[in-house]
Amino acid sequence: MPILPTQVSTPRRLFVTTALPYANGSFHVGHIMEYIQADIWVRFQRMQGHEVHFVGADDAHGAPIMLKAEAEGITPQQLVARIAAERPKYLQGFHISFDNWHSTDSPENVELSQDIYRKLKAAGLIYSKPVEQFYDPVKGMFLADRYIKGECPNCGAKDQYGDACENCSSVYQPTDLKNPYSTLSGAAPVMKTSDHFFFKLSDPRCVDFLREWVGDRLQSQVANKAKEWLDGEGEKALGDWDISRDAPYFGIPIPDAPGKYFYVWLDAPVGYLASFKNYCAKKGMDFDAFLADPRSEQIHFIGKDIIYFHTLFWPAMLKFADYKVPDNVHVHGFITVSGEKMSKSRGTGISPLRYLDIGMNPEWLRYYIAAKLNANVEDVDFNPDDFVARVNSDLVGKYINIASRCAGFISKRFDGKMLEKDNGNAIIAAMQEAAAPIKELFEAREFAKALREIMSLADKANVFVDLNKPWEVAKTGKPADLHRTCTDALQMFRLLTIYLKPVLPTLAASVEKFLNVGPLAWSDAASLLPADHRINDYKHLMTRVDPKQLDALFEIEEERAKVTASTPHPATPAKSGVPAAPATNQADPISIDDFAKIDLRIARIVKAEHVEGADKLLKLTLDVGALGTRQVFAGIKSAYEPAKLEGRLTVVVANLAPRKMKFGLSEGMVLAASGDAPGLYLLAPDAGAEPGMRVK
Ligand code: 2FM
Ligand code: ZN
Repeated sequence: MPILPTQVSTPRRLFVTTALPYANGSFHVGHIMEYIQADIWVRFQRMQGHEVHFVGADDAHGAPIMLKAEAEGITPQQLVARIAAERPKYLQGFHISFDNWHSTDSPENVELSQDIYRKLKAAGLIYSKPVEQFYDPVKGMFLADRYIKGECPNCGAKDQYGDACENCSSVYQPTDLKNPYSTLSGAAPVMKTSDHFFFKLSDPRCVDFLREWVGDRLQSQVANKAKEWLDGEGEKALGDWDISRDAPYFGIPIPDAPGKYFYVWLDAPVGYLASFKNYCAKKGMDFDAFLADPRSEQIHFIGKDIIYFHTLFWPAMLKFADYKVPDNVHVHGFITVSGEKMSKSRGTGISPLRYLDIGMNPEWLRYYIAAKLNANVEDVDFNPDDFVARVNSDLVGKYINIASRCAGFISKRFDGKMLEKDNGNAIIAAMQEAAAPIKELFEAREFAKALREIMSLADKANVFVDLNKPWEVAKTGKPADLHRTCTDALQMFRLLTIYLKPVLPTLAASVEKFLNVGPLAWSDAASLLPADHRINDYKHLMTRVDPKQLDALFEIEEERAKVTASTPHPATPAKSGVPAAPATNQADPISIDDFAKIDLRIARIVKAEHVEGADKLLKLTLDVGALGTRQVFAGIKSAYEPAKLEGRLTVVVANLAPRKMKFGLSEGMVLAASGDAPGLYLLAPDAGAEPGMRVK
């Protein structure tokens, strides 16, 4: 990685993005981690005085979004708009300072994607050829592999996906499945041929360019991966890229090819440019001139699962369409929660919204994530005990503590005024000198190291305060000594605030107010507050985490399941968690509109398992047709042997908000009847019902 010079005389021009999230689901903590990482880097660059444009957008296209919208009876645009409407709550909540948020379903993206395609075609890098694929004759659409199931060709297990058997683990092609069926309609798929467009990634021009582009700009793990793909031979040789999908598809039409759309992954990264273009228009900036300026840098922050797209297709597409190519792609690992992996689509572990709703400070999470992030492609583990320790001991115990121990004396005893600056204090001098190495660590995204460095400076400041004991000097010592100690401690506190500001922007803003200074920039570390500078009264800057908040964040919900499983229930479906009425009493009337809010679906129980440590629960894996696969914890262990449930159809409340339980995420509720006498009876539909069908 090239190390950038510490002193940059001309400001850099940075265009920074994060991966565009699919617009069919809320943000999970994995998204938030990426945004926090990028935001810290962006804020750090802004503090250097660089020109930074930080943009995001929703990744709106593709079959899953189209099918989800269809299942909800709305248009894909309505679905995308609904999801887009929730984004600000998260982004503002965690202080993510995007300059613009847009959508890949936008005029800018249509124009740019089609322009790139036309140029690639003119460069001889697009061709078409027939592709034979499964087709659902009832839905009238080609089926991606994830929408095909059937019997395992090896062990005969039913309802297996087209790539691998969950029962015997054998791996195969969708065409190997016995009695395949479409999970969308239940119909037997037929093989059908259609022309697809391909981007010729294997063209020697692309390969040569990519080898050179990869060069030494990427993290070593990422460069190694990219080189492995570029150097692949035989079966592993670099393939061309199928960039088209047939109607019906929610996407951008391919020019001069009626009924053909760009595959979502073609127009998704173009969405970076579309969002930037949209932003330029709002700001009166010249988009083309920015991209043409050799000083401009284009930086993408992404997760390790999408390296292929960002280090092969994306730079090659841009290069041969005559666009600026990315200057760097910064790749991070995943976030695990107490060592547990998170699912990309569902997320697990921590709900960012719940985190905010229960009043947890977003800057605790920013600090914690920063304290664990480095520039390698490593997973970051969120561990509740570690979180409490780092926030309480480091952030509050070390940093905030400096101000809280000294500020009051300046206000009360010295009319809020600082003493003249003492350039002889070695700790202050060391802190000022640390500006350069800490800056390099932030630049290189070595946030954990940067924070360790900053906290070791905070340790020094605390030792200084401990040794000089202002609380004792205030009682028995000389006022001048008290004034000196407290002034120096606040100078130290100010320097630490500069270094922490990219991570803790709102806290830094409160400190700026308290210190009565304007927005702090990195270069302010070279100077100190002048003599007689008057500070404002100190108000408490940050509270400690109460470990109970972590319990609330990871709410253990077996209690809820116990209600479902063991108490008398109304015979009609009731919302889980609502205390059950005796079977003889009818529940309060609701309107048909109330009822219509409940999305009841037929689901096939693909897998049923005991849950270690749970008395009442079974873990069910449900196939809900077009809505995909769901994991549900059901309080039915007393009534059913797991093996007997597998393959059965039942009814699931599909739009119940996912709930975190001790054992994992529960994404719905299966319906069972019970009366006053013991016994629990899972609902089952008549023959002919198929997974995903709506119950109404
Ligand atoms: O993997 C994903 O979530 C994709 N929506 C990321 C797209 S990044 C960019 F290409 F838009
Ligand atoms: Zn099998």
